Parts: sequence; structure tokens; C-alpha cells
Amino acid sequence: MKFDIADIKLAGKGKKRILWADNDMPVLASIRERFAKQKPLAGKNVSACLHITAETANLARTLKAAGANVVLCASNPLSTQDDVSASLVKDFGIPVFAICGEDRKTYYKHIHAALDHKPVITFDDGADLVTELHTTRTNDAERVIASMEETTTGVIRLRALDKSGKLKFPVIAVNDAASKHLFDNRYGTGQSTVDGIIRATDFLMAGSKVVVAGYGWCGRGFAMRAKGMGAIVIVTEINPIKAIEASMDGFEVMPMQQAAKVGDLFVTLTGNKNVIRSEHFRVMKDRAVVANSGHFNVEIDIPALAKLSKKINKDIRNHVDEYVLPNGKRICLLAEGRLINLAAAEGHPASVMDMSFATQALEAEYVVKHADRLAAFVHNVPIEIENTVCTLKLKSMGITIDKLTLEQVKYLADFGEGT
Ligand code: ADE
Repeated sequence: MKFDIADIKLAGKGKKRILWADNDMPVLASIRERFAKQKPLAGKNVSACLHITAETANLARTLKAAGANVVLCASNPLSTQDDVSASLVKDFGIPVFAICGEDRKTYYKHIHAALDHKPVITFDDGADLVTELHTTRTNDAERVIASMEETTTGVIRLRALDKSGKLKFPVIAVNDAASKHLFDNRYGTGQSTVDGIIRATDFLMAGSKVVVAGYGWCGRGFAMRAKGMGAIVIVTEINPIKAIEASMDGFEVMPMQQAAKVGDLFVTLTGNKNVIRSEHFRVMKDRAVVANSGHFNVEIDIPALAKLSKKINKDIRNHVDEYVLPNGKRICLLAEGRLINLAAAEGHPASVMDMSFATQALEAEYVVKHADRLAAFVHNVPIEIENTVCTLKLKSMGITIDKLTLEQVKYLADFGEGT
């Protein structure tokens, strides 16, 4: 078995981590049990480019139990849990190509290793496999039944590809499923972003001015949690609807140029590039902390910050680089502008990834069943899958809900009954 990981000797620790996470992933575990009996992915080659975490390990185990031949590579150079990779290889027989801290060349070497596996189903968190399949590896695109996309940024890239008319196979916007983004993006990012920032800096939220760039589901989640910890939260937006929403949720809304002068902590969660730029760094307070929790490391203009600085003190603390401006003010950049929740913490808690990865697993079964009917465009996850995941999750939480009475079913189906 070919693989490329940091150190196989870390497997013992990784296995404990994977099994610990599994305790909080009951929906995925129940799907795994069914898949082990029914083998819906029998003989299918699957390549998954995801954050290599304990939660992803449990998804990979589920796909393998379904009969798939699974290989994994990282979707971010800094998010790999090396002990988890080791255990996947040693204890679960799943090849992994990922090393935490790998350089760009190695990152792409690993992506190509995953494509050498000749997948018929791919999983992406940021669309890197699909991008390679449409650029450097077009010959390998022909055999792909479908590709799953886990993140908002990836879906944006895929919709652009679809719009250009060049999309070669069906892709599934798993991120857009309610059973995914309402929970993972909001509560997962909300909590894990706070976690990453605090682990990296020991930052006190209470009484601090926290600037949240972007009020999508991730921004909403983080703003909500920062407020809950006593921060004074400011939101920046470019979308008028989201800006009103942020305002009516009780946050101050203003342009970044104004927020830059008052913020103690800045967090980007926009999916766009250069959201914090030179003109913003120039007016920031001494020791302002700047972090990103969006998918790519482009949201903070780091080259501009470096150009502006007279000195850079690397690693003044784990995951913290201090940029000293000509005016003597220091700006603390976290995790080189990469996803702070995965670089400095452990990503979203397993309990929320349970829903995301249960949606992914059921969707993989769906695309195999419906392979001949799926056209090459961006598909949504069927509502039945969203409902199954949420029903199973509720059951695992010990929560029961009401059922419509027959009279109510009729009432909803009848447009004749008015005032
Ligand atoms: N994305 C965010 N958190 C994650 C996690 N714990 N595992 C995999 N992908 C993630």
C-alpha cells in the first residue's frame, strides 16, 4: 500500500482520537453499520481531498465499510492531524497522502497521488481535485460519476465552472444542504474559530472589540459566539441584506476602514480575497490580532502586510507572527492567514461533523444509485437525505418532535381555506 505521512509511530494516539470522535458521530456510525451489510459502494475507487482529522477518518471508515477503495489527501497544508493519518494507514488500511505543514509542491504531489488512484467518486473541501481534473488531469475526468463539495468556497468555484459551460461531470453542493451548513458552518465554525484564536493567543473575548468580516453562516456563527463571551462585535459586509440582518441581530455594522481603527481582533470569514488590506493595517491599534477562518489564505493581504512592515518576528508564540509597522505598531497574524480553527485547534467538533459527513456518505450512495441520471451540473442534495440526517440526529439527541395531524396535512395541501 502506497502512502505518504509524517510518522507511522503516531498511530496509537491517532486511533484513540478517531474512536473518541466516533462516540460523538452516532448518525455516521449507524450509516456505517448499514453500509457494511449492504455495500452500496462495492468496488468503487474513491479519492477524498478533505481536512485530515479524526472526523474525516470516520467518514473514510464509513466509505470503506460500504465497499469503496478509499484514499485521502489533505485539502489544506496546515490542517492535517498527523497522528490520525498514521492510524488510518496502520489500523484501518486507508492510504493517506498528507503531512501537516507540507509545502505547496508536496501538497500538489499528494493531490496527484490521490488522482493516480483513478477515482470514480471524489470528495473535495475547496474544489482542488475537481480543479485538477479540469486542468492538469482531464483524462481522469471521464470516469468520474460525481464529485462532492464540502465547503462554501468550493461551491462558489464549481458554480463558476458550471456557468462557463466547462464542467465535465456532476458535482454535488453538499455544503448547501441544510443538514450541513446550518449546523457545521454556523455552530461548528462559530465554536472552533473561537477555540483556535484562544489556543493561539490566550485572547480575552470579554470587553474586546471583535471585527467579523462576512455575515454568511460562518460569520454569523462566530459573531454569535464572540458576543456570548462578552465581546463587542462589529460586522463588516458588502451585501445589503446580510448587513441589515447583522444590524438587527444586534451588531454594529460599518466599513472595514472604520472598523480597522477600533478593533482588537479581526476575523475574516468571507470566501473573498484581500478583505483586510494595507489601508486597513495602517490604521490598526498596536497588537491588533488578525486571523482568517475562511477556506483559503487569501482573505488577509499578507504580502501587503509584509511589504508594509519594517520587521517580522516569526513564531513569537505558536501560530503567531508579529509584523512591526514603521510607526512601531505591531500586528499579530495568526496561522499565516490559514484556517485558524483547523491550524490552531481541531476543527469543528465531531458532533457537528456527524451531520456533515452523514450527508456526504448518504449522497455518495445516492450518486452511485442514480449515476445514469445525473447530468454534468451542480446538483443540490435531495431533501430526503437532509431529512434522514436530521431525523437520525434528533433521535441520537433523545429529542422527539410533533407529527402533523391528518387534518393539518389536508389544510396545508388545500389552498381554498382562507380567512
Ligand atoms: N472542517 C472543519 N472542521 C472539520 C473537521 N473537524 N474535520 C474535517 N473537516 C472539517
